[in-house]
Amino acid sequence: MRSFILISAAIALAQASIIYRRDTCTVLDCGTVASSQSSCIAAGCCWTPAYDGGAWCYYPTPTNTTRPTAPDRSTIAAWLSSQYSYSVTQLLNALSPSGTVAGVVVAAQSKSNPDYWYHWSRDGALTMDVVAKLYAKAVAAGDSTNANVYKTKMQSWIIFEAGLASRTNPTVSITGNFADNVGEPKFNVDGSAFTGSWGRPQNDGPGLRVRTIMRFLDSYVSATGDTTYAASLSSQIQKDLDYIVRNYANTCTSGTPCFDLWEEKSAQHWYTQIVQRRGLLAGKSYFTKWVSNSTLVSSYQAVSSSLETMMASHWNSTAGFINEMMDITGRKSPDTAIMLGSIHSFDSDNYNSPTNDQVLRTVWHYARYFKGHFTINQNRASYAPLVGRYMEDVYNGGDGVNNDGAGPWLLSTAGMAEFYYVAATSLFQAGSASVTANNQDVYQYFGVTANVGSTITGSSLVTLVNNLFGEGDAYLQTLSYWMGSSQEMTEQFNPKTGARQGAPHLTWSYASLITAKFARDTALTILSGNSTTPTNSATMTATTTPASMTTTTTMVSPSPTAVTTKCNVAVSSRIDCGVIGTTEAQCEANGCCWNPLPSGTSGPWCFKTGAVTTCSVAVSSRVDCGVVGTTEAQCGANGCCWGPLASGVSGPWCFNAVPA
Ligand code: NOJ
Ligand code: NOJ
Repeated sequence: MRSFILISAAIALAQASIIYRRDTCTVLDCGTVASSQSSCIAAGCCWTPAYDGGAWCYYPTPTNTTRPTAPDRSTIAAWLSSQYSYSVTQLLNALSPSGTVAGVVVAAQSKSNPDYWYHWSRDGALTMDVVAKLYAKAVAAGDSTNANVYKTKMQSWIIFEAGLASRTNPTVSITGNFADNVGEPKFNVDGSAFTGSWGRPQNDGPGLRVRTIMRFLDSYVSATGDTTYAASLSSQIQKDLDYIVRNYANTCTSGTPCFDLWEEKSAQHWYTQIVQRRGLLAGKSYFTKWVSNSTLVSSYQAVSSSLETMMASHWNSTAGFINEMMDITGRKSPDTAIMLGSIHSFDSDNYNSPTNDQVLRTVWHYARYFKGHFTINQNRASYAPLVGRYMEDVYNGGDGVNNDGAGPWLLSTAGMAEFYYVAATSLFQAGSASVTANNQDVYQYFGVTANVGSTITGSSLVTLVNNLFGEGDAYLQTLSYWMGSSQEMTEQFNPKTGARQGAPHLTWSYASLITAKFARDTALTILSGNSTTPTNSATMTATTTPASMTTTTTMVSPSPTAVTTKCNVAVSSRIDCGVIGTTEAQCEANGCCWNPLPSGTSGPWCFKTGAVTTCSVAVSSRVDCGVVGTTEAQCGANGCCWGPLASGVSGPWCFNAVPA
């Protein structure tokens, strides 16, 4: 076995190697290429050699990860009810306002600083999805006056979109294919092409559009029986879906770019994929029900399956979250787009829904990062945080006023509430929750400690469901706190002062508040059977008790929060996997671990481990690795496992990993 004693100016390491579990640290680069372990730690950051090509020096996640106390339900309900009415009015004001043509949805009622007086495909489809839901509710309530108003607005938007799809635009100049005009993201409010430079094409538009059209058609046909209108939209719907079929596998690295919903990066995007998939499945239903076309049905099914395979490859097991982009250059932190994609594509198939363990872990994790990220969150550490797009974001909303950089987004904060309401409802309906390595510590955060492989049912499930619902309310409480007495929903808040920044009256912000309210109403109806007078009781009762809710709990021996770590072994246990001169890239290409040692320490930098280690250790076998008062962060910093024990159970909380 050869030892590497490489002296590198870039990595002048003075301290013993400190290994954090990757999932306790963000993947947001906190250093520079020349950062050393000591300068990294001196800056208060985490140091972990990266095995995925990412940075080694990371912003730590906040140590205060205590769950906020759920606010009083009736206080939230009262605020939400009033904010909802205001938001519906504002959202409707954004539909074909004066100076625009019929069917336009302006992104914001703002013509300068920033100028959002345009029709975006994405914002338009998300906004009209709300109108489709309002239509369905009006029909259900027997309110034919409003049902007609909403129906007219839906049909006018559908006609406007069809008009856009019949004209050329700059996306066509990029791809050379006229049919690709449906990938254009943004249009002038007279319906003409926006020809300024922009991140185009954006491939989420067609999927979102078809999903929204189908939501409307489903309600419309069941209310009116008018399948002729539904069938008349077949070529418009097929054009959007053909675009997805043609473009979904695009590598986005050369040739046709694929910009994300943030209009910044050309890459394969999880958000784009999940809404493409939803659009295809909506189309599959359309071409089964109203226009029969089995060729299209099988093609949409096949492509949606391929998209599922592509999305699965976005899971970053090292970091413990889903990468929004496959090419993570320059943006590595968890993205609110995962949360948004999950709720925007939510449907009865529960695909990558808020209860999916990878999605849940990603979203929970993402919010923890933001908890420590903005001054306004740090000052309110015991409350749910305001959340933004992603940690590296610098876009301040372009309002030309503030210089404090990117702030939290209102639509993301409202989206977190919706996400947790949906999670609570889905788990309750499922009647049980399976504990996996990905959701174990999330469930623990939500008050239920359980072993990986076990199933949470009974009163423990009710606890979990209640706490998930309470988390949703906690996000709305935070949102209402910063909104104060004004009901205006901008794009962002200032990260330091909480003042509003970015686009005023952002239509999508209103849409997000409205859908959060709908998700909350649904949750209350299903969980307590009472949507009008929500109670504040600690335990929700089921209207109808799912079968498995009657069983007693299968809980729970406390178990550690830590995950198995492959490369986290003592230096003396490293088995050389390289030769002198082996680079990090060569090492990892051979499937080995790479972890440079401090100067003065000899041992292989590229190595295999005799055994994979795990934190899954019976309480009675735990070997203490801390002292009284050791925190989770200190424990992780020492490369140990962290697993708090229930009161009354004695044993170390910080303990050594063992061979797996
Ligand atoms: C406008 C885009 O819509 C926004 O998402 C982006 O961050 C900024 N341009 C800066 O590139
Ligand atoms: C910027 C956002 O990044 C983008 O998603 C949105 O479409 C536009 N603003 C318009 O609201």
